[in-house]
Amino acid sequence: MTELFPDEVVTKAHVRDVDTSAGPIALITLDNGRDHTRPNTFGPASLLELNKALDEVAARTGIVAVAITGKQFIFAAGADLSGAALVDSRETALAIGKLGHDVFRRLGELTVPTFAFVNGAALGGGLEVALHCTYRTISSGIPAIALPETALGLVPGWGGAYLLPRLVGPANALKVIIENPLSQNKMLRGPQAFELGIADVMFEPADFLEESLAWAAKVLDGTISVERADHTGDDWDSAVNMARFFADGKLHGAAPAPYRAIELAAAANRRTRDEAFAAEDEALADLLLSGEFQASVYAFDLVSKRARKPAGAPPKELARPVTKVGIIGAGLMAAQIGLLFARRLHVPVLLTDLDEGRVKAGVGYVHGEIAKLAAKGRISADEASRLTALVSGSVSKDGFADADWVIEAVFENLDVKRKVFAEAEAIISPECVLATNTSSLSVSAMAEGLQHPERVVGFHFFNPVAVLPLVEVVRGTATDDASLATALAVGKQLKKNCVIVKDAPAFVVNRLLTRFLGEITTAVDEGTPFDVAEHAADPMGLPMPPFLLLQLVGPAIALHVAETLHAAFPDRFAVSPKLRALVEAGKATVYGPDFSIDPEVAAMLAGGDKPSTAEQVLQRALEGLAEEIRLMLDEDVVAAPEDIDLCMILGAGWPFHLGGITPYLDRTGIAAKITGAPFAVR
Ligand SMILES: NC(=O)c1ccc[n+]([C@@H]2O[C@H](COP(=O)([O-])OP(=O)(O)OC[C@H]3O[C@@H](n4cnc5c(N)ncnc54)[C@H](O)[C@@H]3O)[C@@H](O)[C@H]2O)c1
Repeated sequence: MTELFPDEVVTKAHVRDVDTSAGPIALITLDNGRDHTRPNTFGPASLLELNKALDEVAARTGIVAVAITGKQFIFAAGADLSGAALVDSRETALAIGKLGHDVFRRLGELTVPTFAFVNGAALGGGLEVALHCTYRTISSGIPAIALPETALGLVPGWGGAYLLPRLVGPANALKVIIENPLSQNKMLRGPQAFELGIADVMFEPADFLEESLAWAAKVLDGTISVERADHTGDDWDSAVNMARFFADGKLHGAAPAPYRAIELAAAANRRTRDEAFAAEDEALADLLLSGEFQASVYAFDLVSKRARKPAGAPPKELARPVTKVGIIGAGLMAAQIGLLFARRLHVPVLLTDLDEGRVKAGVGYVHGEIAKLAAKGRISADEASRLTALVSGSVSKDGFADADWVIEAVFENLDVKRKVFAEAEAIISPECVLATNTSSLSVSAMAEGLQHPERVVGFHFFNPVAVLPLVEVVRGTATDDASLATALAVGKQLKKNCVIVKDAPAFVVNRLLTRFLGEITTAVDEGTPFDVAEHAADPMGLPMPPFLLLQLVGPAIALHVAETLHAAFPDRFAVSPKLRALVEAGKATVYGPDFSIDPEVAAMLAGGDKPSTAEQVLQRALEGLAEEIRLMLDEDVVAAPEDIDLCMILGAGWPFHLGGITPYLDRTGIAAKITGAPFAVR
């Protein structure tokens, strides 16, 4: 099986004896020999290494216990996913599950007690190793403890789905197994994991190992007795129903893994260890071969690798330093952008707008958000005063004279944007980058007529700026390498992921979302009932249904983008008369506060004599996406289909189990039907 994992970085299991007051403990240290950016993982060779170490300690006489710990910052980060994605038969998939179980379960079945000293990040199989032990200590400094499998198309199938519910109760366990992974893959910090009951005791990171050993000795000699709650009498049914309800709300059944994990956890109370582990093996075998898992590994790889090294980037050395930032506009986006620059770059940020009132409102927003961060303890009082002092406002752009980066976020109108760039250019130095946050206008057109059009670059954030990790960095026809390199370096400092896109109408995310929503609103225009259209895409498990998304974006903005795209591509982008009517009637929301549709909106969306079924609506929306993506690739809007997927994952929150979107269009056969061939990124 090891040949299936040709690139496995083997995690060694070093054994040494440590003397304690209770006698010698055999301490196994997991270490793959790399720094903490390459965490310990488990492929077949690593599992066999651990097995060898367990053979060695099992044969040892005179030890009073076995303990297992990790390397600096990392306990272990679970299965080797890239290898797992290469599994091509059920037999091998089953064997991988079984090998993990056979090795890990020994930690719970030795003749001496076992301890996990969880010193660092423990994810997936890493946490499962610890769950097999008799006792666990945990460091208070750990930033990441999780069972993220269900977000990746798998289940915690090396014992986790059985052991965790029995240890911490079904409600807490399902939070870790279902809720957290499906909530943007939330992780627990050390203290939270301890609170949930995952560990028996918590120590500070500084002397974690010494404290853990001393504590273990006291457990062994009976000075300390570990009390654990019995969860057999918990309300398992209600915890399981809650988890199902939660998964349905997120996925509508779109991906199998969370449901399999819920089934396994639900049965933990009534199964023996052998029965439970066999059921986990079966679940893993089914899921490892699923399209959802393959797509998830692909998505995980994009987010962890490609997102850090944008395709088509010029040499990094060309980037110029940014020591002061100017922002034109102080509205919704500008103020959020100002806050982000101050927090991440720690340089002066000057917001400008048309009048004192708007400037004051924008700067007030930023200062208010800084105060909120301080009140929540997210930043110190000192940091809050430093940040507050960095952000100021003015109606004059004179303060831009010594800025290296000026970004505009004024109204979405080409003439207004050209005008503010010309005004800024009269003040700024020739090297200062001029960036635009436009959602759909031409960056090249905006640069026309400037003295230095080569400094203009698109820098498209997504709302809310603090939450969505994507920036589409747009290279206009005149943009030079130094400006592009500076934009990418700034993006990195802002801790955003940049994708380089060509200057094409609405770039990637808005173009695809508009095409997708456009097909759905056209179906409503033709007479498809609102409810049918709104839930047609439920089988994809998107973060929200289309009209709720429309409400979040704002119907007026959505209409504006649709009009821009209609002007560019009239055959493919319709402007919905019903959407226009909503905007003209001043409707900013579709749903009322109780999440039922506003009756006036419902009346405006009704009418039409060519209704479609939900299946027809979904098919049409997906065919539209496939066509649009093929055209975008032909137009070189991005370097490769991978960049389309990265944009949809990071900018629109499209799920891993779709792989962004192109793996899903391939797997459903829609890409081949519409474009003649699959996108075949995987
Ligand atoms: N709202 C979003 O979700 C979103 C997302 C991404 C990008 N964008 C883009 O960001 C830009 C701003 O959008 P917004 O939603 O923040 O709009 P907004 O209306 O909240 O803010 C625009 C601000 O620009 C100011 N302004 C207008 N003309 C000006 C001038 N000549 N000089 C100085 N200030 C001027 C206005 O007074 C206003 O305060 C647009 O290009 C939009 O397409 C918006």
